[in-house]
Amino acid sequence: GSKDAAQQKKELIVGTEPSFAPFEFPDGKDGEITGFDMDLIKAMAKKMGYEKVTIKGMGFDALFPAMNAGQIDVAMAGMSITEERKKQFLFTDPYYESGLMTIVRKDNTVIHSLADLKGKRIGVQLGTTGAQEAEKIEGAKVTNFDTSDLACLELKNGNVDAVISDLPVLEYFLKKGGASYAKTVGTPKKGDFYGIAAPKGKKELIDGLNKALKELKDSGEYQKIHDKWFGA
Ligand code: ARG
Repeated sequence: GSKDAAQQKKELIVGTEPSFAPFEFPDGKDGEITGFDMDLIKAMAKKMGYEKVTIKGMGFDALFPAMNAGQIDVAMAGMSITEERKKQFLFTDPYYESGLMTIVRKDNTVIHSLADLKGKRIGVQLGTTGAQEAEKIEGAKVTNFDTSDLACLELKNGNVDAVISDLPVLEYFLKKGGASYAKTVGTPKKGDFYGIAAPKGKKELIDGLNKALKELKDSGEYQKIHDKWFGA
């Protein structure tokens, strides 16, 4: 009944995988999960009248079963809207345009683009579009890591030759110190859009999120959050 709906409205439970700066990552002080996605979903929830937003961190691949099991209401995790995922979940309108990119060690002189990755050792985050892309490369030895930080660490240690991940995340990583040992190669594969995912059946929730997103864009609040994390 309507009372149930009102009660459900109080808390929005958001699942994410927090090794994906600047979209979601633990802040330095108390380890609270912060970032562009977190600011955006909180602003959207506020617009929708939620009193509380609870963030649950988990593996990226765990977000999908968590939605199915009703443990989280939505997944907000720099998640690309793909045809495959759309078969199983609902997505909001795109809220951020992204793309895939490759990084290698700075001293690597043989990998200049995706084409040079044939037969190479590639690190990716489990369950991501980067992992799917890596699997397509002939003869590549793909290692799936639980977090995207781990993939980058293994690049540093020389245990993988390249990491395929999302461009804005790799750019942020390079800017925040990664550039001391890593560099991007090739050109980004564009045309990738992030959306907020929800279980099938939560159409009303998706509609509400879309409305809130549009309002935040129209009011300039979205731009403010964007500039806070990506610069003006
Ligand atoms: N955009 C990519 C995907 O949807 C990577 C997302 C990884 N997100 C994260 N929070 N670790 O597969």
